[in-house]
Amino acid sequence: NYPDAVSIVEVGPRDGLQNESAPLATEDKVALVEGLVAAGLGYVETGSFVNPRWIPQMADSGDVFQQIKRAPDVTYAALTPNLKGFERAMEANASEVAVFAAASESFSQRNINCSIEESIARFLPVMEAAKTAGVRVRGYVSCVLGCPYEGQIEPPAVLAVSQALLDMGCYEVSLGDTIGTGTPGSMDRLLETLVPTLSARRLALHCHNSYGQALANILVGLQHGITRIDSSVAGLGGCPYAAGASGNVATEDVVYMLQGMGIDTGVNLDALIDVGRSCCKKLGRETQSAVAKARS
Ligand code: HMG
Ligand code: MG
Repeated sequence: NYPDAVSIVEVGPRDGLQNESAPLATEDKVALVEGLVAAGLGYVETGSFVNPRWIPQMADSGDVFQQIKRAPDVTYAALTPNLKGFERAMEANASEVAVFAAASESFSQRNINCSIEESIARFLPVMEAAKTAGVRVRGYVSCVLGCPYEGQIEPPAVLAVSQALLDMGCYEVSLGDTIGTGTPGSMDRLLETLVPTLSARRLALHCHNSYGQALANILVGLQHGITRIDSSVAGLGGCPYAAGASGNVATEDVVYMLQGMGIDTGVNLDALIDVGRSCCKKLGRETQSAVAKARS
């Protein structure tokens, strides 16, 4: 019993590029975002408004947002950890924003320099300001299937922080397997805990592919009724605060799998492969998409 359609949240320009050691020029980031939209992606996480000393790769996000030619009905989203980030995102005219928490205390400290509880408190003024501005807020929870510092994370910890984000007004929570250690077994156990309480329509999956489990984990998500999947063109990315975390699952691979299952994504696979190829060439790195490699 699979859904007829799945919407893909393309996170390559943010999650992908934030972890590339070779910086991509602003104009190349702009071309990447525009290329992704031309390939049919309706939601592109375009950048983040965090401390540029922490993530220098995203220091030019404001310029990227200013320079892209926008298509109608496309969401150009930004990560905003606090009110300052939200204000910068509004100056840049981001269509919507995302706050990001974790299910692990150690990861929360390393990533955003505060406890889980403090992070929720910092998000409150962002939620208030977003409500006033009429801007939707997405929530992320990192380390839902494992933490680089604490190891195993239990589903109730994920449930608690996801519930807090939804209660404060996030329209959906994206469940981050930040280090990609999850398997269909642990994903199934997690969703058995979360879906009955939170409902599948308010959840998305954000799978990194470090252990090659992402597509299998996404399949389990579809079986639980989840229809929103985060992925990154060419499998770009990782997380600077999670050593060994490789990129997100490649968008090309997700689109290929869903097409084969008769599930609509609205994405043109050939065009997407071209966009990934051109970006990898500029970065001087190899694609992490198995489909793009097979088609080369
Ligand atoms: P902090 O140091 O605790 O913040 O950092 P602070 O409020 O004490 O401020 C310190 C300095 O940062 C000040 O500057 C602020 O102005 C500045 P100074 O006075 O020293 O010159 N500052 C900012 N500058 C620009 N934009 C802002 C901003 N906020 C403060 N928004 C903070 C707290 C959250 C800002 C910091 O820890 C940070 O920037 N962290 C970045 C973390 C990050 O971007 N991680 C990667 C994204 S999350 C991810 O990849 C996971 C995900 O993909 C899901 C998954 O895979 O699990 C989403
Ligand atoms: Mg991520």
